[in-house]
Amino acid sequence: MDTAGTSVNAGLYDIAERVLPGAGLGGYALPEDIRFVFAEGAGARVTDVDGRQFIDYVGGAGALILGHSPPAVVSAVQEQAARGMHMFGTLNEPAIRLADRLVKDIPCAEKIVYATTGSEATAYAMRLARAYTGKDLILKFEGAYHGNHDYALTSTFPTRLGNDPLGQDDTAGRPAGTRRTMCVAPYNDLGAVERIVRERRDELAGVIVEPVQRIIPAEPEFLKGLRRLCDETGVVMIMDEVVTGFRLAYGGAQAYFDVVPDLASFGKVVGAGGPLAAVAGRADILDLSDPRRKGEPGYVYFNGTLHGNPVAAAATLALLDELARPGVHDALNRYSAQACAASQKVLDRHGVPAIAEHTGSLWQIIFTRGRPRSHADMLAGDSAAMRRLDMQCMKQGLYVLPGVRRFFSLAHGDAELEDSLRALDQACRIVA
Ligand SMILES: Cc1ncc(COP(=O)(O)O)c(C=O)c1O
Repeated sequence: MDTAGTSVNAGLYDIAERVLPGAGLGGYALPEDIRFVFAEGAGARVTDVDGRQFIDYVGGAGALILGHSPPAVVSAVQEQAARGMHMFGTLNEPAIRLADRLVKDIPCAEKIVYATTGSEATAYAMRLARAYTGKDLILKFEGAYHGNHDYALTSTFPTRLGNDPLGQDDTAGRPAGTRRTMCVAPYNDLGAVERIVRERRDELAGVIVEPVQRIIPAEPEFLKGLRRLCDETGVVMIMDEVVTGFRLAYGGAQAYFDVVPDLASFGKVVGAGGPLAAVAGRADILDLSDPRRKGEPGYVYFNGTLHGNPVAAAATLALLDELARPGVHDALNRYSAQACAASQKVLDRHGVPAIAEHTGSLWQIIFTRGRPRSHADMLAGDSAAMRRLDMQCMKQGLYVLPGVRRFFSLAHGDAELEDSLRALDQACRIVA
């Protein structure tokens, strides 16, 4: 792949270099020889501005569970956009209908509150837990991602381990006061959580957990143990379902694992790729934000220009109609299992010491010794080899961000699997 010379990619990158830090839109800057500018997506494939096609496994960071531009969602967006794209300060019908649907379909949801992004939803869930308990401390897990705010950026990418219960800063510019309100434990280690809860019970407001932490699934007893510990101590259990919500199963990971948290954050699939996210949970906690309580002690402020945006709400309703069809998640998860098994065969054939790991439709090729249980296991793996293979996969036409977990969508089919296995085979041949 070559983006040099007179291609449209190259011209646009020249502009991007000038006006965007690192010529990127956020956390990722692709090396010069594989970067491309997205032009359009259809189903599981994306095309760049020079007309090159890729099979998309980034899937809008997991938002695009139906693939790109599914007709039912596009129609819903067009219809609503023609009637009005935005409304603030009062209700709109799609937002009410979606809230009603989420309350029916999410096990923990007695009520929901809208947000715009997953980060906003996790920040708000933490604020609610603090207000509800009157305490400050939130426990998160090493290696867990909960978004881009100062509270979340604790030990998300720690390079040293064994530093729990104190977290590490993931970013400069984080106030020391914020750091002191967070602590961390190793994932899937109930004993460590129990120790922290016992020692810091008087300070602890909440525990926030990803039910599948990046690519590592919670062990069956871990989430149940967290639920029990929170019940025993009055700590608010927050499940971060921004990735897993309506992806692992209809209703989310709480339906899949059968563990009901007090609060849960949703985004990505909830939002259908548009500006919408939500916090779902217990009414007695969410009612702290009842605007009629403004000015009273205990009132929790939460508000946003785009909250309950009618276009994103209409898109999400259309998407949920598709996902609610019988057997949809079973088919997607089965496809994922088959694709990972077939990828494993390719890796083994080339003697590449990697695992094609998946939980439901979340997957990644990782270079760890056995299936990882914690961030420590991920760190002990060969991340340089993982990135090398991912780069080669990109060069062979698979859109996978190097070292980043990826997604199957309902638009991936036999043709994509066949083409992807061929690309992986070629990538393995080159790196092996
Ligand atoms: C588990 C989890 N929580 C929160 C977020 C933040 O969501 P957003 O990027 O919409 O702010 C992400 C984003 O990837 C996520 O994976």
